[in-house]
Parts: sequence; structure tokens; C-alpha cells
Amino acid sequence: MSAEATIQLTVNGRNRSVTTDPQRPLLEVLREDWELTGCKYGCGEAQCGACSVIVDGRRSFSCRTAISSVEGKNVRTIESLANGDKLHAVQQAFLEEGALQCGYCVPGMIMTAVALLEEKPLPTDAEIVEAMNRNLCRCCNYPGILNAVRRAAKNNNGGGK
Ligand code: FES
Ligand code: FES
Repeated sequence: MSAEATIQLTVNGRNRSVTTDPQRPLLEVLREDWELTGCKYGCGEAQCGACSVIVDGRRSFSCRTAISSVEGKNVRTIESLANGDKLHAVQQAFLEEGALQCGYCVPGMIMTAVALLEEKPLPTDAEIVEAMNRNLCRCCNYPGILNAVRRAAKNNNGGGK
């Protein structure tokens, strides 16, 4: 284990600080230290997308992101999306399309879709597939997921709340 360091960052709009092994994965700190358990552990090898969060506007695999590498950055997890009882447009679209079976992949799918729609409010199907293709769904609910991202783009005409 490396010597501990104190890392400061913003998580879901709140200043956070942690003193820990700087190589610890962001996913572990989010889940274990801050109880932000929406992001999931799947493969641990940046291959499935279950742990996806948004770092400075870009989707990141938090399982392979050292906490030291997000020093001073802005991290968003799925817990930041809903506004009270009002779901984010992408969450709402997943619900309306029934784009979940076991649900394990869904937080990562949603965060990836949010990052996409913030960058490209009206993506083509090819752009949706390209953006989502590193997120795996073991239930193979890919048609529903594609429909949900399409619906979110259409309903929202953009990616914001
Ligand atoms: S758990 Fe991070 S990509 Fe699979
Ligand atoms: S809904 Fe089960 S893994 Fe995607």
C-alpha cells in the first residue's frame, strides 16, 4: 500500500476530502467511504461500464480511476441526477421504455447516456451505439436501452434535467 494522501474533489456538487491510498479506485471511495452505491462493481477492469460516473463532463470507469487522478475534479454519480422526486430525463426515459431487467447495468448505462446527451443533444443511432458500446448488459436488454436513449433525446431535446 502506498503512503496515504489527502485528495480533494467535488462530488455531486459537494466538496469532499479523503485521506487514503492515492491508488485506491474512485469506485471504492464512492461506495465505501461516501455510501454512493449507485455506481456498481462489475468487472473491475474497465470492460463492462457498470461503474460509470462523469468526471469533468466525460464518462469514466471509476473502477480503474485512481482517486489521486480526480484531485480537484468534478465527479458526478447517478445520485446527482434526480431533483427530489423528479427524475432526470434519462432516468425517466429508461423507466418509460422499461429498459431494465435485473437493473445492475442501468446506473452505468444512464450515466453514459447523460454524458453523451450533454455533449450531443440529438445523437444519431450510430452515435448512441458508439457511445454505449462499452457498457455491457448481461440481460441483453440492448433494444430497450437504445430506445430509452432515443426517447430521452427526443423528450428533452437535449441532455439537461
Ligand atoms: S466495473 Fe468498471 S468497467 Fe466494469
Ligand atoms: S438489466 Fe440486467 S445487466 Fe442490464
